[in-house]
Amino acid sequence: MSDGKSTAEIAAEQAAFWNGPGGEGWLAAYERIARSIAEVGEIVLAAARAQPGEHVVDIGCGTGGTTASLARAVGPSGHVLGVDISEPLIAAARRQGLPNATFAVGDAATHAFDQGASDLVFSRFGVMFFADAVGAFRNIRRALKPSGRLVFLAWRTPQENPWATAPVRAAQPFLPPQPKPPEDVGQFSFGDRARVERILSESGFAGMRFEPVDRPIWMGDSIAEVLANAGRFGPLARAFAGAEPAAIEQAKQAIAEVLAPHEKPDGVRLPGACWLVTAHAA
Ligand SMILES: C[S@@+](CC[C@H](N)C(=O)[O-])C[C@H]1O[C@@H](n2cnc3c(N)ncnc32)[C@H](O)[C@@H]1O
Repeated sequence: MSDGKSTAEIAAEQAAFWNGPGGEGWLAAYERIARSIAEVGEIVLAAARAQPGEHVVDIGCGTGGTTASLARAVGPSGHVLGVDISEPLIAAARRQGLPNATFAVGDAATHAFDQGASDLVFSRFGVMFFADAVGAFRNIRRALKPSGRLVFLAWRTPQENPWATAPVRAAQPFLPPQPKPPEDVGQFSFGDRARVERILSESGFAGMRFEPVDRPIWMGDSIAEVLANAGRFGPLARAFAGAEPAAIEQAKQAIAEVLAPHEKPDGVRLPGACWLVTAHAA
């Protein structure tokens, strides 16, 4: 539980967000998001080592970008199931027409996976949104074969991810105050390694390995381009939605100042930090 809300209330809020403004924003900004997370995404895909013939689940698959990579790796004798709580994102994923992948709209915390059928459960940034993380990972573990493996990527702490936090901090003084996001659900809820270890061991995983992945995150080709797209997804989208145009301009000016030292001929990049987590069923 978080902020006095029940698990059911938090789960309902997450479902509403990803089926509403969150999913719409992710979809609208996906081309840019995909570029931002391509490099760290390649690292988790390489670590997953999906093999021809394997059965894979992609948790919180979104528009199915990683599902497509996994489907290529497992080939025609393998299969990938992409599960996501967001109908619009699954609709986009299905439009890829992947021959050896299927997609399901569902909450991975409770989805009725085929028990003991998967060699690999994978996720790129799709496992940090569970209201009850231990319950969710217990359900996910049931999908794995006894020899199966879990491989996922999650952001570390906000302090280690200025690509996400620096623009928001710069803009905040000019924008309406936003409710503080819950610490144990959301983008940075897996930053604390000890917490993730506890979640995984309580849900029946063992052999946990945490590898820090530190990479600059591309935010745009220029500051002007970052500013033109600021507010399409994420905390700035929520803050901009309730702000006057003049306040948004002031906020953008402040963001430009904080980004200025990071603008290089090949784009604007700020440090990003993830955990690459691998584990197997205990
Ligand atoms: C940050 S996005 C990552 C999307 C995708 N993995 C990618 O890398 O492009 C998080 C995704 O998790 C999904 N999600 C959030 N809570 C979920 C849940 N309980 N069950 C399944 N998917 C969920 C969201 O709808 C969203 O698509």
